[in-house]
Formats: sequence, structure tokens, C-alpha cells
Amino acid sequence: MLTKKPWRLGTRAKLLMRGLRYSCILPYASINGWLTVDEAIALFELANGLTGPKPHAVEIGSWQGKSTVCIARGLRAKNQAVLTCIDPFDASGDNESSDEYGDRATDLGGPLRRAFEENLAAADVRDLIDVRPGLSHEHAASIEESIDLLFLDGNHSYESVRRDFEDWSPKIRAGGFLAMHDVVHPVHAGPRRVVDELIVDNPDWINGHYVDSMFVTQRAST
Ligand SMILES: C[S@@+](CC[C@H](N)C(=O)[O-])C[C@H]1O[C@@H](n2cnc3c(N)ncnc32)[C@H](O)[C@@H]1O
Repeated sequence: MLTKKPWRLGTRAKLLMRGLRYSCILPYASINGWLTVDEAIALFELANGLTGPKPHAVEIGSWQGKSTVCIARGLRAKNQAVLTCIDPFDASGDNESSDEYGDRATDLGGPLRRAFEENLAAADVRDLIDVRPGLSHEHAASIEESIDLLFLDGNHSYESVRRDFEDWSPKIRAGGFLAMHDVVHPVHAGPRRVVDELIVDNPDWINGHYVDSMFVTQRAST
């Protein structure tokens, strides 16, 4: 006997129901990854709302480019915008994630870096991206420019998220934004612990709020 599957709106339909302006991030829907529709829209809006010359966003943990495309599409029309993407592209990560990364990478049947490059090209954003292969802490010292938007989605262990926050958040300019993924998560406790210990009661960080599992906050003006 045939069982009926419950009817669900697809990601593309959900995106377009939020507004036709989000048609520009439609390519995100076909990229393997973990970002919800509302998280995708939030990243796009954060990048799109940046003002000032030469906006600079940094993404730690790019995988196959799902969040990359959302941020880059938000930066698309801006003058001399750059999105720096840091990822080892070897499917490595925290203990809770590495098996899933490995399985998904095997299913891909080719190098992660190639999938990332192809996804950026298909979304027409490759020209905005500065790719830095490797682990986040290996690049922290070499990136001296201030950051307008930092997206943390790399290693989710407490120690690594804390290190990323300590290495990278001081580079965020006053009024700039920090977004952290998987802060509300049944398995990953690290991002939430960092938010609770270092951000929530810290007057340097204001306007904290959640979009699904993502925590977004803004550096206070001095
Ligand atoms: C959850 S995935 C990122 C998902 C991506 N942001 C998206 O929207 O699809 C985490 C990625 O971070 C990478 N990674 C793990 N540890 C890292 C580190 N220390 N620095 C940078 N990237 C790391 C993993 O290999 C993986 O590609």
C-alpha cells in the first residue's frame, strides 16, 4: 500500500514566500549544508545592510559554500567588498561532527574544495571571495583588516569556539556584527557556553538575538 508523504514546502518556495528580494539567494538551496531558510536570510540581510567603504566579512567554516553564498550575495552590489573564507576543506572537525562530515564528503565523490568552488561559480560570487584553506587559528595573525561581519561556523567544541571568539572578535569594528551558528543545538554545547560565558553579560556586545540556531550580536560603539 502506498503511504502518503506529508506535504512540505520546499526551501525555494519558503525563501520566495519571505519576499521576492530573496530570489538572489536561491542558489543556496541546492548546496549541501545545515543552514535554515531564516538563517540564510539573516546572513544575507546582515551583509546587505553593511555600510561604509570596502566591507569585509569573514566566514570560519565554509564547507561547500551554503552560508558563503548568502553572505556574498548580500555583499554583491557593494564597492570592493570581500568575504574571506577559512576552511581546511578536509571534512575535519569536532568529535560530534567529523563522522557526518566524512560521510557527506564520501557521498560527494570528489574534493570538497572543488564543490565549494563550483557552488560559488554557479552563484556568481567567486570574484568576491578570498579563500584561505586551513584552520582558523592558523590565519588569525595574518588578517589585520578590521571585520564588519564575522560568521563563526567551524569547529564547534567549546575550546575551539572560545579560541575563535578570542582570536577573531577583537577584529570586529565598533558597530560590526558577529553571527555564530549552532548555538541552540542538541549535541553542540560549545557555542552556547561561549555565548553565555563571554557575550551575554558583556557590555561590549549589544542587540543579541537568535535566528533559529544562530546567535547574532553587534559590537557596541566605544
Ligand atoms: C558546519 S560546517 C560549515 C557549514 C557552512 N557554514 C554551511 O553553511 O554550509 C563546518 C566546517 O568548518 C570546518 N572546520 C572545522 N574546524 C575548523 C577550523 N578550526 N577552522 C576553520 N574551519 C574548520 C569543517 O571542516 C567544515 O567544513
